[in-house]
Amino acid sequence: MATVDSTKPLADRPPRLSANPFLRVANDLRAEWRGRGAYPPGPSDFSLSRTKQAAYDPLPLLLGAYEEFGPIFSMRLLHSKVVFMLGPEANHFVTVGHPENFHWRESSFGDLIPLLGDGLLTIDEGYHDRARAIMVPAFHRAQVEASTAAMLMEAEAALATLRPDTVVDVYAWMRTLAMRIAMRALLGLDPDDGGQGAVAAHHFEAALGFFGIDFALRLLRGPGSPWRKMIASRAVLDRIVYEEIGRRRAAPDSGREDILSLLVAARGENGEAFSDREIRDQVMTLMFAGHDTSTSTVTFALYELAHHPEALARLCEEQDRVLGGASPTIDQMERELPYLDMVVDEVLRLYPPAWIGPRRAVRDFEFGGYGVPRGAYVNYVSWASHRLPEVFPEPEAFVPERFTRERKAELPRGAYVPFGGGKRVCIGKRFGLIEVKLVLSMLSQRLRADALPGRTMTVRQMPTLSPSGGLKMRLRHRA
Ligand code: HEM
Repeated sequence: MATVDSTKPLADRPPRLSANPFLRVANDLRAEWRGRGAYPPGPSDFSLSRTKQAAYDPLPLLLGAYEEFGPIFSMRLLHSKVVFMLGPEANHFVTVGHPENFHWRESSFGDLIPLLGDGLLTIDEGYHDRARAIMVPAFHRAQVEASTAAMLMEAEAALATLRPDTVVDVYAWMRTLAMRIAMRALLGLDPDDGGQGAVAAHHFEAALGFFGIDFALRLLRGPGSPWRKMIASRAVLDRIVYEEIGRRRAAPDSGREDILSLLVAARGENGEAFSDREIRDQVMTLMFAGHDTSTSTVTFALYELAHHPEALARLCEEQDRVLGGASPTIDQMERELPYLDMVVDEVLRLYPPAWIGPRRAVRDFEFGGYGVPRGAYVNYVSWASHRLPEVFPEPEAFVPERFTRERKAELPRGAYVPFGGGKRVCIGKRFGLIEVKLVLSMLSQRLRADALPGRTMTVRQMPTLSPSGGLKMRLRHRA
């Protein structure tokens, strides 16, 4: 990372968007009126049951519409017509081919802005590209390797709390672990210091809770409402993060390897530096994007492995042969554990945690013979795209062997997009994959997690895919 003393701000901060839900509805109606008649085919009547299904069980709805209308269709959800684009070509079009047609900021996930501010997820165009260029070095391999020390320390401590012959909510366990890793590796805070670290972890979870509740409850703004609670937690987080930024600025220490410190020191090609506010927004975004996703991936992997003993046996054979009981190094995780890679790839196919790529069209465009007007909500959906039988035969089956190196290379471009693609591809992909593989390796070398008889898992999708109500499993010694 270049270190230049003369710092310039990043120009053109994006415009503020109103957090008033009623204004948003009015804007949506105006946008639809402007583009009237030009939407791709699909049900356009108001339907509460469709809106409810989209909110609670969207997969069958989307796959049904794909069968009926093809890779691009629209449907009215609540008050708005929403366009969905599914399948390899559609994913490629949105992420790689024509990202200039879309903004993230004005998408249906714009509600995150009051908490996250203007981090990578919620900014677009030149401002996004400049911010991303400054941040990318903080996610290079050497930096992720430095973060593995925090991951290892935390994973060891978390594993020590697990006892054979007990029932544990593995989702809650991994969520705590992922949050602790994020505190150390992203913010450079000690989650055990009883001060900043623990308080930040608590308030981050509390603030995130807002986005998992019913839409109607999110509209309330009065005293004691979920909104007010989220804003109160945000104030605590802001205080902690700004104090940490101030500390790093007052006493720069090139030995610190947490991402917050790297962002304070980072400079763009022309000497641009992030302001305090920009760093705050970026680290909040990283916390949001980074801890739910790895939590869910580990949990879904444990669930599928418990139901597929042959895959588990193959995974354990590989672990024993390559690691012999030791914790894996980053080299081993990236090159020497191909079956672990295949298991993680297949888990991310079936349950891509960031399952929807929300966008808003900023110009009229055409895809698959249909026009889409400027102002339309447009989403690509990896979760549904990964379950198209013509791309992934027997899509419901858990088959890691689909992801041998050769078979993965044969997939059409855009077919497999658990990390998105193009210039918005997940910046934390390597960090997330290493975290997931490290925890799975360390856990599977010591314990078995069995499914509880008679329990089925249902998947909840807001804001990321996760097992609804957590996932209890019975632990036992590894045979
Ligand atoms: C298994 C783990 C992860 C998965 C499956 C995942 C998935 C994704 C996906 C699909 C996107 C693109 C969304 C879109 O196109 O709208 C994305 C973007 C992003 N991810 Fe991840 N992610 C993971 C872990 C992480 C981690 C650990 C971090 C940070 C430490 C992170 C930070 C981000 C950020 C900042 C973006 C926005 C990038 C941009 O727009 O330039 N992610 N992630």
